[in-house]
Amino acid sequence: MTETVLVTGGAGYIGSHTTLALLQAGHDVLVLDNLCNGSPEALRRVARVAGRAPRFIEGDVRDAALLARVFAEHPVTAVMHFAGLKAVGESVREPLRYYDNNVAGSLALCQAMQSAGVHRFVFSSSATVYGEHAPIPYSEATPVGRPTNPYGRSKLMVEDLLADLAQSDPRWRIAVLRYFNPVGAHESGLIGEDPSGIPNNLLPYITQVAVGKLRELAVFGGDYPTPDGTGVRDYIHVVDLADGHLKALHALGQHTGWNVWNLGTGQGYSVLQMVRAFEDASGRRLPYRIAPRRAGDIAQYWSDPAKAQRELGWHARRGLPEMMRDAWRWQQANPQGYASS
Ligand code: NAD
Ligand code: UFG
Repeated sequence: MTETVLVTGGAGYIGSHTTLALLQAGHDVLVLDNLCNGSPEALRRVARVAGRAPRFIEGDVRDAALLARVFAEHPVTAVMHFAGLKAVGESVREPLRYYDNNVAGSLALCQAMQSAGVHRFVFSSSATVYGEHAPIPYSEATPVGRPTNPYGRSKLMVEDLLADLAQSDPRWRIAVLRYFNPVGAHESGLIGEDPSGIPNNLLPYITQVAVGKLRELAVFGGDYPTPDGTGVRDYIHVVDLADGHLKALHALGQHTGWNVWNLGTGQGYSVLQMVRAFEDASGRRLPYRIAPRRAGDIAQYWSDPAKAQRELGWHARRGLPEMMRDAWRWQQANPQGYASS
Protein backbone atom coordinates (compact mmCIF):
# COMPACT_ATOMS: atom_id res chain seq x y z
CA MET A 1 0.00 0.00 0.00
CA THR A 2 1.31 3.44 -0.91
CA GLU A 3 1.44 5.75 2.08
CA THR A 4 1.65 9.49 2.40
CA VAL A 5 4.09 9.90 5.26
CA LEU A 6 4.67 13.12 7.17
CA VAL A 7 8.34 13.09 8.14
CA THR A 8 9.15 15.69 10.78
CA GLY A 9 12.85 16.54 10.90
CA GLY A 10 13.26 15.08 7.41
CA ALA A 11 15.98 17.58 6.48
CA GLY A 12 18.21 16.21 9.26
CA TYR A 13 20.63 13.30 9.35
CA ILE A 14 18.42 10.27 10.00
CA GLY A 15 15.26 11.86 8.60
CA SER A 16 16.86 12.55 5.20
CA HIS A 17 18.05 8.95 4.84
CA THR A 18 14.61 7.67 5.84
CA THR A 19 12.89 10.07 3.45
CA LEU A 20 15.02 8.61 0.68
CA ALA A 21 14.16 5.05 1.71
CA LEU A 22 10.44 5.92 1.77
CA LEU A 23 10.57 7.49 -1.69
CA GLN A 24 12.52 4.54 -3.05
CA ALA A 25 9.87 2.21 -1.64
CA GLY A 26 7.21 4.14 -3.60
CA HIS A 27 5.69 6.16 -0.76
CA ASP A 28 4.91 9.88 -0.92
CA VAL A 29 6.71 12.04 1.60
CA LEU A 30 5.92 15.37 3.16
CA VAL A 31 8.83 16.79 5.14
CA LEU A 32 8.18 19.27 7.94
CA ASP A 33 11.38 20.84 9.28
CA ASN A 34 12.22 24.21 10.82
CA LEU A 35 15.83 23.89 9.57
CA CYS A 36 17.32 24.61 13.02
CA ASN A 37 19.72 21.73 12.33
CA GLY A 38 18.74 20.56 8.87
CA SER A 39 19.43 21.62 5.32
CA PRO A 40 17.21 22.07 2.27
CA GLU A 41 20.22 20.90 0.25
CA ALA A 42 19.83 17.48 1.91
CA LEU A 43 16.34 17.26 0.42
CA ARG A 44 17.53 18.37 -3.03
CA ARG A 45 20.06 15.56 -2.92
CA VAL A 46 17.50 13.06 -1.70
CA ALA A 47 15.43 14.01 -4.76
CA ARG A 48 18.46 13.51 -6.99
CA VAL A 49 19.07 9.99 -5.72
CA ALA A 50 15.39 9.00 -5.59
CA GLY A 51 14.47 10.51 -8.96
CA ARG A 52 11.54 12.33 -7.33
CA ALA A 53 11.23 14.90 -4.61
CA PRO A 54 9.60 14.93 -1.21
CA ARG A 55 7.29 17.88 -0.61
CA PHE A 56 8.92 20.30 1.83
CA ILE A 57 7.17 22.50 4.38
CA GLU A 58 9.41 24.79 6.40
CA GLY A 59 7.91 25.07 9.86
CA ASP A 60 7.90 23.97 13.46
CA VAL A 61 6.20 20.93 14.98
CA ARG A 62 5.10 23.11 17.90
CA ASP A 63 3.02 25.28 15.52
CA ALA A 64 -0.49 23.87 16.04
CA ALA A 65 -2.11 26.00 13.34
CA LEU A 66 0.45 24.90 10.78
CA LEU A 67 -0.02 21.24 11.72
CA ALA A 68 -3.80 21.52 11.39
CA ARG A 69 -3.30 22.99 7.92
CA VAL A 70 -0.85 20.27 6.90
CA PHE A 71 -3.25 17.50 7.91
CA ALA A 72 -6.20 19.27 6.28
CA GLU A 73 -4.40 19.81 2.98
CA HIS A 74 -2.59 16.49 2.58
CA PRO A 75 -3.84 12.89 2.78
CA VAL A 76 -1.32 11.89 5.47
CA THR A 77 -1.61 8.21 6.46
CA ALA A 78 1.31 7.97 8.91
CA VAL A 79 3.83 10.16 10.72
CA MET A 80 7.51 9.57 11.37
CA HIS A 81 8.72 11.97 14.05
CA PHE A 82 12.44 12.78 13.90
CA ALA A 83 12.24 16.50 14.72
CA GLY A 84 13.98 17.30 17.97
CA LEU A 85 17.15 18.50 19.60
CA LYS A 86 19.78 15.87 20.37
CA ALA A 87 22.92 17.34 21.97
CA VAL A 88 23.28 15.84 25.44
CA GLY A 89 25.57 18.56 26.88
CA GLU A 90 23.40 21.35 25.50
CA SER A 91 20.34 19.73 27.10
CA VAL A 92 22.02 20.02 30.51
CA ARG A 93 22.61 23.75 29.95
CA GLU A 94 19.23 24.49 28.35
CA PRO A 95 16.70 22.00 29.73
CA LEU A 96 13.66 24.15 29.01
CA ARG A 97 14.55 24.41 25.33
CA TYR A 98 14.90 20.63 25.18
CA TYR A 99 11.64 19.85 26.97
CA ASP A 100 9.86 22.45 24.84
CA ASN A 101 11.19 21.16 21.53
CA ASN A 102 11.17 17.44 22.25
CA VAL A 103 8.24 17.00 24.64
CA ALA A 104 5.94 19.92 23.76
CA GLY A 105 6.73 19.36 20.07
CA SER A 106 5.69 15.69 20.27
CA LEU A 107 2.58 16.63 22.24
CA ALA A 108 1.49 19.20 19.65
CA LEU A 109 2.06 16.66 16.89
CA CYS A 110 0.00 13.95 18.61
CA GLN A 111 -2.81 16.42 19.29
CA ALA A 112 -2.89 17.40 15.62
CA MET A 113 -2.85 13.73 14.57
CA GLN A 114 -5.68 12.92 16.93
CA SER A 115 -7.78 15.79 15.57
CA ALA A 116 -7.04 14.73 12.01
CA GLY A 117 -7.76 11.03 12.65
CA VAL A 118 -4.23 9.91 11.79
CA HIS A 119 -3.09 7.26 14.27
CA ARG A 120 0.03 5.60 12.88
CA PHE A 121 3.17 7.00 14.43
CA VAL A 122 6.86 6.10 14.38
CA PHE A 123 8.97 7.79 17.05
CA SER A 124 12.76 8.29 17.25
CA SER A 125 13.76 7.19 20.72
CA SER A 126 17.17 6.27 22.01
CA ALA A 127 19.01 3.53 23.88
CA THR A 128 19.68 6.21 26.47
CA VAL A 129 16.27 5.38 28.05
CA TYR A 130 17.78 2.17 29.48
CA GLY A 131 19.76 4.32 31.92
CA GLU A 132 23.10 3.57 33.51
CA HIS A 133 22.56 0.28 35.28
CA ALA A 134 20.81 -2.00 32.80
CA PRO A 135 22.39 -5.42 32.13
CA ILE A 136 24.05 -5.81 28.70
CA PRO A 137 22.84 -6.44 26.07
CA TYR A 138 19.82 -4.14 26.34
CA SER A 139 16.62 -5.85 25.29
CA GLU A 140 13.17 -4.30 25.12
CA ALA A 141 12.26 -6.45 28.15
CA THR A 142 14.94 -4.59 30.14
CA PRO A 143 13.14 -2.07 32.36
CA VAL A 144 13.90 1.51 31.39
CA GLY A 145 16.18 3.33 33.80
CA ARG A 146 16.70 6.94 34.63
CA PRO A 147 18.53 8.68 31.77
CA THR A 148 21.43 10.80 32.96
CA ASN A 149 20.43 14.06 31.22
CA PRO A 150 17.42 16.16 30.10
CA TYR A 151 17.76 14.97 26.49
CA GLY A 152 17.37 11.35 27.56
CA ARG A 153 14.57 12.20 29.95
CA SER A 154 12.72 14.05 27.18
CA LYS A 155 12.80 10.83 25.11
CA LEU A 156 11.47 8.79 28.02
CA MET A 157 8.71 11.33 28.68
CA VAL A 158 7.55 11.06 25.07
CA GLU A 159 7.66 7.25 25.23
CA ASP A 160 5.36 7.42 28.28
CA LEU A 161 3.08 9.98 26.65
CA LEU A 162 2.72 7.67 23.66
CA ALA A 163 1.99 4.65 25.88
CA ASP A 164 -0.78 6.60 27.63
CA LEU A 165 -2.18 7.68 24.29
CA ALA A 166 -2.25 4.10 22.99
CA GLN A 167 -4.02 3.03 26.20
CA SER A 168 -6.66 5.70 25.75
CA ASP A 169 -7.71 4.92 22.19
CA PRO A 170 -7.33 1.56 20.39
CA ARG A 171 -6.95 3.22 17.01
CA TRP A 172 -3.36 4.25 17.76
CA ARG A 173 -0.57 2.16 16.27
CA ILE A 174 2.74 3.38 17.61
CA ALA A 175 6.31 2.24 16.96
CA VAL A 176 8.89 3.47 19.45
CA LEU A 177 12.30 2.84 17.91
CA ARG A 178 15.25 2.89 20.28
CA TYR A 179 18.31 3.70 18.22
CA PHE A 180 21.77 2.68 19.30
CA ASN A 181 24.60 4.74 17.68
CA PRO A 182 23.73 5.81 14.12
CA VAL A 183 26.76 6.40 11.89
CA GLY A 184 27.76 6.44 8.23
CA ALA A 185 26.11 7.95 5.21
CA HIS A 186 24.28 6.99 2.05
CA GLU A 187 26.60 5.11 -0.27
CA SER A 188 26.11 7.72 -3.01
CA GLY A 189 28.18 10.12 -0.86
CA LEU A 190 25.44 12.70 -1.45
CA ILE A 191 23.71 12.67 1.93
CA GLY A 192 25.26 12.27 5.35
CA GLU A 193 25.73 13.77 8.79
CA ASP A 194 26.42 17.50 8.85
CA PRO A 195 27.01 18.53 12.46
CA SER A 196 27.21 22.24 13.16
CA GLY A 197 30.38 23.33 14.94
CA ILE A 198 32.68 20.80 16.56
CA PRO A 199 31.07 17.35 16.47
CA ASN A 200 30.01 15.75 19.76
CA ASN A 201 29.87 12.25 18.31
CA LEU A 202 32.72 9.91 17.61
CA LEU A 203 32.54 9.18 13.90
CA PRO A 204 32.07 12.74 12.58
CA TYR A 205 34.90 13.76 14.88
CA ILE A 206 37.13 11.04 13.39
CA THR A 207 36.33 11.99 9.79
CA GLN A 208 36.93 15.68 10.49
CA VAL A 209 40.34 14.87 11.98
CA ALA A 210 41.11 12.81 8.90
CA VAL A 211 40.31 15.69 6.50
CA GLY A 212 42.41 18.05 8.60
CA LYS A 213 39.60 20.18 10.06
CA LEU A 214 40.48 18.99 13.58
CA ARG A 215 43.93 18.17 14.92
CA GLU A 216 43.48 14.88 16.78
CA LEU A 217 40.84 12.68 18.35
CA ALA A 218 40.54 12.79 22.13
CA VAL A 219 39.58 9.28 23.23
CA PHE A 220 37.41 9.88 26.27
CA GLY A 221 38.75 7.41 28.83
CA GLY A 222 41.32 4.62 28.52
CA ASP A 223 40.58 2.94 31.84
CA TYR A 224 37.03 1.64 31.45
CA PRO A 225 36.41 -2.02 32.40
CA THR A 226 36.31 -3.00 28.71
CA PRO A 227 38.71 -5.21 26.70
CA ASP A 228 40.96 -2.29 25.65
CA GLY A 229 39.89 0.28 28.27
CA THR A 230 37.91 2.48 25.87
CA GLY A 231 34.11 2.86 25.68
CA VAL A 232 32.07 0.30 23.75
CA ARG A 233 28.94 1.09 21.71
CA ASP A 234 26.66 -0.54 19.14
CA TYR A 235 27.19 1.48 15.95
CA ILE A 236 24.55 1.09 13.27
CA HIS A 237 24.71 2.21 9.63
CA VAL A 238 22.18 4.98 9.01
CA VAL A 239 20.87 3.24 5.87
CA ASP A 240 20.10 0.12 7.92
CA LEU A 241 18.40 2.38 10.45
CA ALA A 242 16.30 3.97 7.69
CA ASP A 243 15.31 0.52 6.48
CA GLY A 244 14.26 -0.33 10.05
CA HIS A 245 11.81 2.59 9.93
CA LEU A 246 10.21 1.25 6.77
CA LYS A 247 9.87 -2.19 8.29
CA ALA A 248 8.35 -0.69 11.45
CA LEU A 249 5.86 1.32 9.40
CA HIS A 250 4.79 -1.79 7.53
CA ALA A 251 4.60 -3.80 10.77
CA LEU A 252 2.06 -1.35 12.17
CA GLY A 253 -0.40 -3.20 9.92
CA GLN A 254 -0.26 -6.14 12.37
CA HIS A 255 0.82 -4.41 15.56
CA THR A 256 -1.74 -2.28 17.34
CA GLY A 257 -1.13 -0.08 20.39
CA TRP A 258 2.31 0.86 21.68
CA ASN A 259 5.26 -1.19 20.43
CA VAL A 260 8.96 -0.83 21.05
CA TRP A 261 11.86 -2.10 18.97
CA ASN A 262 15.61 -1.72 19.43
CA LEU A 263 17.44 -0.78 16.26
CA GLY A 264 21.03 -1.89 16.71
CA THR A 265 23.39 -4.52 15.35
CA GLY A 266 23.87 -6.51 18.56
CA GLN A 267 27.64 -5.99 18.30
CA GLY A 268 29.71 -3.64 20.43
CA TYR A 269 32.93 -1.95 19.28
CA SER A 270 35.40 0.07 21.32
CA VAL A 271 36.63 3.54 20.41
CA LEU A 272 40.03 2.10 19.50
CA GLN A 273 38.41 -0.56 17.29
CA MET A 274 36.56 2.26 15.56
CA VAL A 275 39.83 4.14 15.03
CA ARG A 276 41.49 1.02 13.52
CA ALA A 277 38.48 0.30 11.30
CA PHE A 278 38.54 3.89 10.04
CA GLU A 279 42.27 3.65 9.32
CA ASP A 280 41.71 0.42 7.37
CA ALA A 281 38.86 1.90 5.32
CA SER A 282 40.54 5.23 4.58
CA GLY A 283 44.19 4.20 4.33
CA ARG A 284 45.02 7.14 6.62
CA ARG A 285 46.57 7.15 10.05
CA LEU A 286 44.39 8.86 12.62
CA PRO A 287 46.14 10.93 15.30
CA TYR A 288 44.57 10.38 18.73
CA ARG A 289 45.37 10.65 22.40
CA ILE A 290 43.78 9.12 25.47
CA ALA A 291 41.98 11.89 27.40
CA PRO A 292 39.95 11.90 30.64
CA ARG A 293 36.53 10.27 30.67
CA ARG A 294 33.62 12.42 29.48
CA ALA A 295 31.08 13.14 32.21
CA GLY A 296 27.92 11.06 31.91
CA ASP A 297 29.41 8.38 29.60
CA ILE A 298 28.67 4.71 30.26
CA ALA A 299 31.52 2.17 29.87
CA GLN A 300 29.78 -0.15 27.45
CA TYR A 301 26.46 -1.25 26.05
CA TRP A 302 24.98 -2.81 22.95
CA SER A 303 21.59 -4.02 21.81
CA ASP A 304 19.78 -7.29 21.74
CA PRO A 305 18.20 -6.83 18.29
CA ALA A 306 16.24 -10.14 18.31
CA LYS A 307 12.79 -8.58 18.72
CA ALA A 308 13.17 -6.43 15.61
CA GLN A 309 14.44 -9.47 13.70
CA ARG A 310 11.50 -11.57 14.87
CA GLU A 311 8.69 -9.04 14.56
CA LEU A 312 9.87 -6.68 11.81
CA GLY A 313 11.93 -9.14 9.78
CA TRP A 314 14.71 -6.56 10.06
CA HIS A 315 18.36 -6.84 10.88
CA ALA A 316 21.34 -4.60 10.20
CA ARG A 317 23.19 -5.76 7.09
CA ARG A 318 26.10 -3.35 6.98
CA GLY A 319 29.22 -3.89 9.09
CA LEU A 320 31.97 -1.64 10.33
CA PRO A 321 33.84 -1.52 6.97
CA GLU A 322 30.73 -0.17 5.20
CA MET A 323 30.03 2.32 7.99
CA MET A 324 33.58 3.66 7.74
CA ARG A 325 33.74 3.62 3.95
CA ASP A 326 30.49 5.53 3.59
CA ALA A 327 31.22 8.06 6.35
CA TRP A 328 34.59 8.73 4.76
CA ARG A 329 33.21 9.04 1.23
CA TRP A 330 30.64 11.57 2.45
CA GLN A 331 33.22 13.59 4.43
CA GLN A 332 35.70 13.69 1.55
CA ALA A 333 33.10 14.73 -1.02
CA ASN A 334 31.60 17.32 1.35
CA PRO A 335 34.36 18.68 3.58
CA GLN A 336 32.09 21.55 4.68
CA GLY A 337 28.95 19.38 4.81
CA TYR A 338 26.04 20.71 2.76
CA ALA A 339 27.68 24.13 2.75
CA SER A 340 30.28 22.63 0.35
CA SER A 341 27.77 22.72 -2.51
P1 NAD B 1 19.24 16.06 13.26
O1 NAD B 1 19.45 17.23 14.15
O2 NAD B 1 20.16 15.85 12.12
O3 NAD B 1 17.75 16.09 12.69
C1 NAD B 1 16.67 16.64 13.40
C2 NAD B 1 15.91 17.55 12.44
O4 NAD B 1 14.77 18.07 13.12
C3 NAD B 1 16.73 18.75 11.94
O5 NAD B 1 16.64 18.83 10.54
C4 NAD B 1 16.08 19.95 12.61
O6 NAD B 1 16.16 21.11 11.81
C5 NAD B 1 14.66 19.46 12.83
N1 NAD B 1 13.96 20.05 13.96
C6 NAD B 1 14.39 20.17 15.24
N2 NAD B 1 13.44 20.74 16.01
C7 NAD B 1 12.37 20.98 15.20
C8 NAD B 1 11.09 21.54 15.40
N3 NAD B 1 10.72 21.97 16.61
N4 NAD B 1 10.25 21.62 14.35
C9 NAD B 1 10.63 21.18 13.12
N5 NAD B 1 11.83 20.66 12.87
C10 NAD B 1 12.70 20.55 13.90
O7 NAD B 1 19.21 14.76 14.21
P2 NAD B 1 19.21 13.21 13.82
O8 NAD B 1 20.51 12.65 14.24
O9 NAD B 1 18.74 13.02 12.45
O10 NAD B 1 18.14 12.69 14.86
C11 NAD B 1 16.78 12.51 14.50
C12 NAD B 1 16.02 12.03 15.72
O11 NAD B 1 16.60 10.82 16.20
C13 NAD B 1 16.04 13.01 16.89
O12 NAD B 1 14.77 12.99 17.52
C14 NAD B 1 17.09 12.43 17.81
O13 NAD B 1 16.87 12.77 19.15
C15 NAD B 1 16.89 10.93 17.58
N6 NAD B 1 18.09 10.14 17.89
C16 NAD B 1 19.28 10.47 17.28
C17 NAD B 1 20.43 9.74 17.61
C18 NAD B 1 21.77 10.08 17.00
O14 NAD B 1 22.80 9.67 17.53
N7 NAD B 1 21.81 10.81 15.87
C19 NAD B 1 20.36 8.69 18.55
C20 NAD B 1 19.14 8.38 19.12
C21 NAD B 1 18.01 9.12 18.78
N1 UFG C 1 34.05 9.43 22.10
C1 UFG C 1 35.39 9.75 22.17
N2 UFG C 1 35.81 10.95 21.63
C2 UFG C 1 34.95 11.81 21.01
C3 UFG C 1 33.57 11.45 20.94
C4 UFG C 1 33.17 10.26 21.50
O1 UFG C 1 36.19 9.00 22.72
O2 UFG C 1 35.38 12.87 20.57
C5 UFG C 1 33.61 8.14 22.65
C6 UFG C 1 32.59 8.26 23.78
O3 UFG C 1 33.23 8.42 25.01
C7 UFG C 1 31.81 6.96 23.64
C8 UFG C 1 31.85 6.68 22.13
O4 UFG C 1 32.94 7.43 21.63
O5 UFG C 1 32.50 5.90 24.28
C9 UFG C 1 30.58 7.11 21.41
O6 UFG C 1 30.30 8.48 21.73
P1 UFG C 1 29.21 9.33 20.93
O7 UFG C 1 29.25 10.72 21.50
O8 UFG C 1 29.41 9.17 19.47
O9 UFG C 1 27.85 8.61 21.29
P2 UFG C 1 27.18 8.34 22.71
O10 UFG C 1 27.12 6.85 22.85
O11 UFG C 1 27.78 9.09 23.80
O12 UFG C 1 25.74 9.02 22.52
C10 UFG C 1 24.80 8.54 21.63
C11 UFG C 1 23.96 9.67 21.05
C12 UFG C 1 23.08 10.27 22.09
C13 UFG C 1 22.33 9.23 22.86
C14 UFG C 1 23.28 8.22 23.42
C15 UFG C 1 22.56 7.17 24.18
O13 UFG C 1 24.77 10.66 20.48
O14 UFG C 1 22.14 11.09 21.44
O15 UFG C 1 24.01 7.64 22.35
O16 UFG C 1 22.51 5.97 23.58
F1 UFG C 1 21.62 9.76 23.89
